[in-house]
Amino acid sequence: MKKIGFVAAMTLFAVALLSTRYYMADLPIYHFFGGGEGPEPSVLHLRGEFVESNLGAAEGPSGSLTVRMIAQQFVFVPQCLVVPAGVPIAFRITSADVVHMLSFLGTDYGLKAVPGAVTEATFTFTKVGTFKIPCHEFCGAGHYAMRGQLNVVPRDQFASLLPGERRTCELR
Ligand code: CUA
Repeated sequence: MKKIGFVAAMTLFAVALLSTRYYMADLPIYHFFGGGEGPEPSVLHLRGEFVESNLGAAEGPSGSLTVRMIAQQFVFVPQCLVVPAGVPIAFRITSADVVHMLSFLGTDYGLKAVPGAVTEATFTFTKVGTFKIPCHEFCGAGHYAMRGQLNVVPRDQFASLLPGERRTCELR
């Protein structure tokens, strides 16, 4: 009978741990299965896909739109994203340190930023407006102040932006 109590306690402990600190388990597992082929977190800003000049919204050769972004303690780079309404946008996100979670307030969309890996997802924002992007994964002392902004603008307005103006925007 004592043994069952012990097993039950350990199971409860494991469930509690996994439900609150799951990234401590899923990150090593992810890397074990070859998920560690992504960008090196410590040199993100210096070379490769996530250098400063490559961040924000960029148009591909086929006219498709890709947004690249870095999450780090305790900011998103860029802090403000500008995208057109009604167009599928491919997001490519990584982290420079720990796990962060972008949630686009006012939408159902969310994206996890994982160090050493690129998270990809395609979202279409139908409503024009300003949406806050709070971090929804506890990432340290500045977690509750970690928030970016997404400006969804009409398609023609986005089309008239210069490449440099697609990298970031004014925080409101
Ligand atoms: Cu980043 Cu919480």
